[in-house]
Amino acid sequence: MNSTIPAPGVAVLGCGTVGGATAQLLYSDEALIQERSGIPVRLKYIVDLDFSHARSLGLPESTFTSDLNAVLADPEVGIVVETVGGLTTAKDFFEKALKAGKHVVTANKALLAHHGPELMAVARENGTALSFEASCGGGIPVIRALTDGLLANRIDALYGILNGTCNFILTEMAEKGKQYEDALADAQADGLAEADPTLDVSGMDTAHKITIMASLAFGRRFDLESVPVEGIDTLDLMDVKFGAELGYVAKLLAVAERKSDGFSLRVRPAFISTEHPLAWIRGPFNAASIYGHRVGHTMYYGRGAGGSPTASAVAADIISAAHGIDGTRFHTLGLYQDRNKPEKQLPAGAITGRYYIRAMVFDRPGVLGTISSILGNHNISISSFLQKEPPEAGDGGRSLPIVITTHKTREEDLNGALEEVNKLEIVDGSCTMINIVDERPENLS
Ligand code: HSE
Repeated sequence: MNSTIPAPGVAVLGCGTVGGATAQLLYSDEALIQERSGIPVRLKYIVDLDFSHARSLGLPESTFTSDLNAVLADPEVGIVVETVGGLTTAKDFFEKALKAGKHVVTANKALLAHHGPELMAVARENGTALSFEASCGGGIPVIRALTDGLLANRIDALYGILNGTCNFILTEMAEKGKQYEDALADAQADGLAEADPTLDVSGMDTAHKITIMASLAFGRRFDLESVPVEGIDTLDLMDVKFGAELGYVAKLLAVAERKSDGFSLRVRPAFISTEHPLAWIRGPFNAASIYGHRVGHTMYYGRGAGGSPTASAVAADIISAAHGIDGTRFHTLGLYQDRNKPEKQLPAGAITGRYYIRAMVFDRPGVLGTISSILGNHNISISSFLQKEPPEAGDGGRSLPIVITTHKTREEDLNGALEEVNKLEIVDGSCTMINIVDERPENLS
C-alpha cells in the first residue's frame, strides 16, 4: 500500500472550462483552502498550448507552460489534474503522470468508463492513485458518498439524473411545451448544451457516469458496451404531455439495480411519478437516489455541470489527495474496478416493470379489442387507457394516439407483443414504449 502523501503542488493539464475554473479556484481561494483544510495546496503549473482562456481568467503567466515532461519531473508537483478531455491525448497524459508517481485527479468520465480498470492498474503498479469525484454529478459529492459515507451498506439500487443538458431540455419540454429541437436550440443559446450535443442527448455521457457509479456502489466491474442506452433525442413532446396527464414526469434516468440473477444497468427516458423527489429535479441540476441496506433511501442533489461546480469537486479531490486520504482509500478499498471481475449485466429484456405504450392507430371499429387481445395473449395486463376524441369523429383516414399503461410485466414479453401490434394495418408506424420506473422499496436489515 502506498503511504506517501503527495506534494501539494498542483499542475492542471488542459485549460478549458473545467481546467480553467479549477486553476482559478486554486489560485483565488488558496488561503481559504489552507484555512479550511490545513494544507498549503498551490497551483504551480497550467499546461496547455494556448493560454488565451487562462489569460482571460487572470491566471498568473508564471504558471503557464507547454513542457509536460518538465512538469512531471518537478518533485514539488504531487498532484496532476487531467482536464484535457476526450480519450486519446488524455489517456496518454494520464498514464505519463501516473508513471511519474503523481496522484491524478480527473473529471473525465468517458476515459474512466472506457479505460478505468487499466488506468487504475497503472496507478497501483506505480504506487500512486487517482481520484474522480468530478466525473459523476459535477459538484455533487456522490463518489465520496459511495466510497466513504455509505461504506457500511450493501447498496441495492441507484437512480440518477446525471446529465444537466438533458434535464434542462426535458424541463423546457414539460413546463413550456417546447418541441425537443427548440428546447435544444435554447439550451445551446444559453451555453447549457455543447455545439455538438450528441454525447449528452444520446445518453452516452449518462452511461459513462452510471458505469462508474455502479462499479463503486456494487464493488463490481461493468462493461459500458453492455449498458442499454437510449437518449432523449427521439422523445416526442406528445409523450411528455400524455405522461404528465397520467401523473408522470419524463426524465433521462440512469438506473443500476442489484437483482437476484445479476445487475441491471441502463440509461433511458423514463417516467417517474410526480410524487417522487427525482421528479422535482429541474433545469440543469442533477440528482442521485441511492438505497443502502442499513441507511435506507438517500438523495444527493446539485449542479451537475459547469466550470465552477465541477471545479469544486476537482478541488475536493486535490485536497483529499494532499491529505493522503484519497491515496489511502484507493489502496485500501475493494470497490475499484481493477480489483473486481466483470459482472453479469442483464439485458433490457430482463427488466420487469410498468410501461407506457403509445400507438398511432386508425380510428376504426375493433382497434382497441385487437390491441388488447394481443397484449392479453402475451400475459400483459392493462392498467389504464387514454384516447382523445378525434377532431372529426369517425375520420378513419388519420391516425390518432392511444395510450396504454400496463401492470408489471417483463420487457421481453412486451417487446414480443409490440412486435405483433406494429404489424397491424390499423397501426401507423411503431409503438412508443417508456418504462415507468418505480424505485425499489427500502430493504432495511
Ligand atoms: N455535459 C454534461 C451535462 C456535464 O450536461 O451534464 C459533463 O458531463
